[in-house]
Amino acid sequence: MSKIHIEGLHKTYASSHGPVTALKEVSLSIKQNEFVTLVGPSGCGKSTLLKLIGALIRPSRGTLLFDGVPLLRPTRDVGIVFQDAVLLEWRTVLDNVLLPTEILGLDKIKSRNRAMDLINLVGLGGFEKRFPRELSGGMQQRASLCRALIHNPSVLLMDEPFAALDAMTREELGFELMRIWDTDKKTVIFVTHNITEAILLADRVVAMTPRPGRIARVVDIDLARPRTIDMEFSQKFKSYSGEIRDVIYQGPGASRS
Ligand SMILES: Nc1ncnc2c1ncn2[C@@H]1O[C@H](COP(=O)(O)OP(=O)(O)OP(=O)(O)O)[C@@H](O)[C@H]1O
Ligand SMILES: [Mg+2]
Repeated sequence: MSKIHIEGLHKTYASSHGPVTALKEVSLSIKQNEFVTLVGPSGCGKSTLLKLIGALIRPSRGTLLFDGVPLLRPTRDVGIVFQDAVLLEWRTVLDNVLLPTEILGLDKIKSRNRAMDLINLVGLGGFEKRFPRELSGGMQQRASLCRALIHNPSVLLMDEPFAALDAMTREELGFELMRIWDTDKKTVIFVTHNITEAILLADRVVAMTPRPGRIARVVDIDLARPRTIDMEFSQKFKSYSGEIRDVIYQGPGASRS
């Protein structure tokens, strides 16, 4: 059974200029513990698809099953990381990470222990008493990753989580995320504009095209794990990247042969 099963999903937004069709006929099945990246140009509906999967918005029509059951409201089995860390500035790192456990009323001692484990796992050990303003952008995003994982969700949704970071920090956090995913498997759906990042992280890359947003192609990434930076320079990697670039810019009919 798929972890997430999407069939014929449409999303139309009402706007002051009339309806905007953000997604049309999107179908996709995601397996448990799979790492899937969504890549495509601005406005192709990546965030819309992620918000639908998180049940933050409702589809106009179509089917969305989570563990085989229609998803009608947000579930605690999902953790979300956005582009901005959105930490509460008056709370320390530890208290920010603990916030969801307070809302969910989870055991305080167990939650604190898990929070400290996660903080250490992402390399923020020693900074747990600091406030967000005392952290770099990359450190803030690490803290928001801990907050998304604190209640141990089986699905992690990430919407361009590293987009605001410099290239080196972005790369470093990408590898860190894969290491965390390797030790504590989850189903990850990760949105990015960056084709290289999409390939390096993913088991499968979902390439989308805009107006209205559709899935142009799903590409299986057959590269060994753990992934390394040198893989980017391999012929196989370049061929994935060419294929994805072609379908994004020329549409689903594009071929490289
Ligand atoms: N709340 C909304 N009301 C009206 N239109 C919206 C709303 N949210 C998104 N849209 C429209 O839906 C389309 C898809 O938007 P979405 O944010 O999903 O794209 P995206 O792929 O995430 O883009 P980006 O890469 O810029 O973040 C766009 O045309 C956008 O203008
Ligand atoms: Mg977006």
